[in-house]
Parts: sequence; structure tokens; C-alpha cells
Amino acid sequence: MEIIAIANQKGGVGKTTTAVNLTASLAAKRKRVLLIDLDPQGNATSGTGLDKNDLDLTVADVLLDGVSLAAATVQSPAGFDVIGANRELAGLDITLMGQTNSHELLKAAMGVLIADQSVNKPYDYIIMDCAPSLNLLTVNALIATDSVIIPMQCEYYALEGLADLSQTIERLTELNPTLYIRGVVRTLFDARNTLANDVSAELQAHFGDIMYKTHIPRNIRLAEAPAHGVPVLEFDKNSKGAMAYQQLAAEVIKQSPKKSAERLK
Ligand SMILES: Nc1ncnc2c1ncn2[C@@H]1O[C@H](COP(=O)(O)OP(=O)(O)O)[C@@H](O)[C@H]1O
Ligand SMILES: [Mg+2]
Repeated sequence: MEIIAIANQKGGVGKTTTAVNLTASLAAKRKRVLLIDLDPQGNATSGTGLDKNDLDLTVADVLLDGVSLAAATVQSPAGFDVIGANRELAGLDITLMGQTNSHELLKAAMGVLIADQSVNKPYDYIIMDCAPSLNLLTVNALIATDSVIIPMQCEYYALEGLADLSQTIERLTELNPTLYIRGVVRTLFDARNTLANDVSAELQAHFGDIMYKTHIPRNIRLAEAPAHGVPVLEFDKNSKGAMAYQQLAAEVIKQSPKKSAERLK
């Protein structure tokens, strides 16, 4: 089982779109996947067809009341398992302020889930959608995860954000020494745009072989699907967006053994 956080401090770069559609594409390839929404906006939750304001248990109950991840898991209309989030998560930073283990609550819950899994059929992947800030929730995700996938929009500000991002990951490796960047994925990509191509080349030079080959194009079907509460694969499986996320899922599956081996070095 591999845990992957989808993270970038910038908002609107395609984190949630990537989390939902990567999960759906992995599930379509017969992988057993759990999607955990860690953003109080609950976009990943509603994007899989769940009513975020009508959930018995959310990730807030896991972090605040010690409810198990297994108990908070529901099967989404999209067909895979989801742990939802909503506004209840928003006050977490303040509620947990001063609690000594507040950074490690998700990691502890994950430990229980992993132990459970030895009895049940284990997940192949757990995908976590993070909020666009380095708040306590995101820190919990980055401590609980094995790796991070960073969605990046190919615009000038992406380059400016690179230093911040490297610094964040570096700070987090003090708390999670085995944390690594599994890959960087170019999102909202417009191949006809010169600046996008220039930035893409710079990102490639900066990140080298951790850059995914798949470029996620700017595709209206990807933006429309959430309004229907379905991943794009279900909304329009022949769209460029759906095909790109399937290609990304294939890359993610293919890279697994190599990255695991590297981590053992
Ligand atoms: N590849 C894409 N093509 C078109 N629209 C996209 C694409 N990726 C994301 N969007 C849209 O852009 C907005 C921001 O994306 P989102 O995934 O919510 O970003 P984040 O989670 O990083 O804030 C949303 O309205 C989403 O539907
Ligand atoms: Mg989001």
C-alpha cells in the first residue's frame, strides 16, 4: 500500500482535480483506492458525488474524536472509497492548538488502518487531497504520507513558488524523514501558449526525472465534471482530460517499484 498526498501551497493549480481523477483512473485500472479529503472546502468530497453537508463522519471526526479511518470511510457514488471533509475541518488548527501530538494524529490513524488491512483486503493506494496552505491539516498529511505528487500550472508564478515549495518539503522531512516527491505533474496545460512551454521547460530542468511525462491539458470537461458529481472518466471518458488522467495513473503505477527500491537505499 502506498500513501500519496496531492499538495501545493498554491490554490487553483488542479490539486483536487488531480486527486479525484487520479483516484478514479487508478480504480478503473482495478486498483483498490481510498481518497481522503483534507480540505475544509470539501471539493474532492462533492466531486465524487457525496453530499459534503450530509456525512455521518468526516475526517474531522478522525482527527478530533479519535474515530477510526475505517469507520469514517464511505463508498462514493463514483465507486471507490472516500473519507469526506466539510467546513467542520476549518477550525482544526485552533481546536488542536497546544496539543503536543497534533501533527501526528493522521499518522496514528493511518497506523491503525494499516494494521486492520492485514486482515481485510488492503488498499493499493491512499490518495489525500490537501488544502492550499501549509496548515496543520497539510502538515498532518505530509507526516502521514509516503510521498507527494505536486500539481503545477505552467505560469510564471509557479517558478516563483518553487523555492517555497522546496523549503516546505525540506522542513517536513525533519518530521517525516522518508518523505519524498513522487512526481510533479503539469496541469491546466495549454500547448499553444509560449509562456506555458517556457515554464514547462524550466520545470523539467529543475525537477528532471521526477517530472511526469503526462501533461494534463486545460480541458473544459475536467471543469464540468464536478458539477455533475462525477470524475471525468464517468462524465466523458473520451475527453482529452479523461485520457490524460488515465495516462498519469499508468505512470504512477509504473513508477511504484522503482521508487520503493530507491527508498530502501
Ligand atoms: N485541466 C483542467 N482543465 C480545465 N479546468 C481545470 C483543470 N484542472 C482544474 N480545473 C479547474 O480549475 C479550478 C481549480 O482546480 P482545483 O482542482 O480545484 O485546484 P486546487 O485544488 O489546487 O485549488 C477548478 O474550477 C477546476 O474545475
Ligand atoms: Mg482543492
